[in-house]
Amino acid sequence: MVEANVKNEALKQWVKEVAAHTTPDEVIWCDGTQEEYDRLFKEMVDAGMAIKLNEKKRPNSFYFRSDPKDVARVEDRTYICTKEPADVGPTNNWIDPDEMRQTLSGLFKGCMKGRPMYVIPFSMGPIGSPISHIGIELTDSPYVVVNMRIMTRMGAAVLDALGADGEFVKCVHSVGKPLQPGEEDVKWPCNNDHKYISHFPDTREIWSFGSGYGGNALLGKKCFALRIASNMALEEGWMAEHMLILGLEAPDGQKDYVAAAFPSACGKTNFAMLIPPKAFDGYKVSTIGDDIAWIKPSDDGKLYAINPESGFFGVCPGTSYDSNPNAMESIKENSIFTNVALTEDGDVWWEEMTDEPPAKLTDWQGNEWTPDCGRPASHPNARFTAPIANCPVADPAYEDPKGVPIGAFIFGGRRSTTMPLVMEAANWDQGVYFAATMGSETTAAAAHSIGQVRRDPMAMLPFIGYHMAEYWAHWLKMGGKISNPPKIFSVNWFRKNEDGKFIWPGFGENMRVLKWIVDRVHNKTSAIEGPLGSVPAYEDIEWEGLDFSKELYEQITSIDKKVWMEEVLSHEELFMRLADKMPAEMNYMRQLVVSNLTRMQGTWKPVK
Ligand code: GTP
Ligand code: SPV
Ligand code: MN
Repeated sequence: MVEANVKNEALKQWVKEVAAHTTPDEVIWCDGTQEEYDRLFKEMVDAGMAIKLNEKKRPNSFYFRSDPKDVARVEDRTYICTKEPADVGPTNNWIDPDEMRQTLSGLFKGCMKGRPMYVIPFSMGPIGSPISHIGIELTDSPYVVVNMRIMTRMGAAVLDALGADGEFVKCVHSVGKPLQPGEEDVKWPCNNDHKYISHFPDTREIWSFGSGYGGNALLGKKCFALRIASNMALEEGWMAEHMLILGLEAPDGQKDYVAAAFPSACGKTNFAMLIPPKAFDGYKVSTIGDDIAWIKPSDDGKLYAINPESGFFGVCPGTSYDSNPNAMESIKENSIFTNVALTEDGDVWWEEMTDEPPAKLTDWQGNEWTPDCGRPASHPNARFTAPIANCPVADPAYEDPKGVPIGAFIFGGRRSTTMPLVMEAANWDQGVYFAATMGSETTAAAAHSIGQVRRDPMAMLPFIGYHMAEYWAHWLKMGGKISNPPKIFSVNWFRKNEDGKFIWPGFGENMRVLKWIVDRVHNKTSAIEGPLGSVPAYEDIEWEGLDFSKELYEQITSIDKKVWMEEVLSHEELFMRLADKMPAEMNYMRQLVVSNLTRMQGTWKPVK
């Protein structure tokens, strides 16, 4: 695409300024066409950065290995830059915007030397929809361009929608590895000395330096659609959430949509496209999205949600035809794989993809791998990038600019103890308390130690673009804006027994819990009121086709007084940290839970 065709002067001016400072060899305006996509892959394959997978086994699909130090989001290098540190609160990293601009100016000066700078016009949400927003990402990474083409609506049509004076979020990204004349490039350029994922909510800008991986580099995703969008949502009265959106159609044609927030690598993709077990003949789950939801109140008193993305950036390890057949179908072709292992016949493999690992592989770092070598073949945060259109159960409404009405919100952490399989909040405020106090064991989706329980409110700890307590106040307020707020539930698929094995079978079997949730929305089934929320009795769950004893059920639904007193103490700890902006309701809710627990004897079970 030629720059002369671009009507937006502000955009052209900004591109010129960034190019003057970062000094790329050329500026390439991306048009989003298949030809452009194919050309970029040809260049990357020729340069040895990408490997084309076996065309027969995995048509039109490509493989990348990242630098072993650039494998996940870097939460400790992620910054929100506002005038006052109090604006972002203690759960975010803060740097004064002027200071950050100075640091970035130093780092970005000449940082694209020896590379092209790509201009990526993209729309989060269907192009032209009143709910959608446009971003422009400037990047020196062709890997980012091809991923953005799958993850967002990208290209010339977006510039048309932007017109001469439309607004856009400015996203600047560099891998931070300029090339001197004659210097040979590496296969995964990045900068392991300096990484900054920085956000300027006041000017709706994102500047990302030093990483080429996932949410650090695909700036439409977490940086724009969550951190910047959460600020826009606060101002404008809507919600930007780390949620999947799924549809459930019952045999009688009744269709419900639910949105569910689980922290990174805790099962959103799986839940978004689950296949109901045989006993649920006639029930159909369809996928609107697997990671992000933009939610707005509507005149009919309901909340409507869209998925701002158009692709999946999903965790590979653990994904198989057993655990998630729809994901496996989604990545059959036209997909990108990063940090998985390569088979001898040019296909991909990762842990648990098949019962038996192949006898020989090349691992995610390019080394020879055999099943007895003692190393994982793929990185735990290895990912696939695949278009939603590939998903056999994609819900056509994912293109609907109006969005879908949400009947229930579900919040779930990864907890091997404490949290019951499922609970229903008595009302909106109690649901917000559930969500705000949710904890989860950390995963490989970010660069930090794994398996530690941390509070991850609404699964948004790494993604909220302002003060966490203000975000809770916003949630409480949103409940009051709608006459018919969704019911709120909490779930936990991850309780373990003494041997460290998951007790609940999970995956497709989660349908049993989903069915109870949707039936509760329609007042079609019962529950037992417990000290925290309402829980189904064993008899309230459909068990046909699954051998799961009442004893096991009680193990994963009981509430232990001692354990929960400790849990509530850690809620208190979080509340104290956020005290400067805490909404009063949250303290009342906590007090209510403490009172209920105090009255309790030993262990509570949901028994009729
Ligand atoms: P992000 O893309 O990082 O936001 O995460 P996600 O929530 O979409 O994660 P994903 O669905 O890819 O989760 C992957 C991990 O969760 C894998 O290790 C799965 O095996 C595991 N998982 C998903 N569903 C279940 C379940 O029902 N039970 C158990 N035990 N594990 C599950
Ligand atoms: C997550 O970490 O929650 C993801 C992957 O969805 S990333 O895009 O890298 O943030
Ligand atoms: Mn995510």
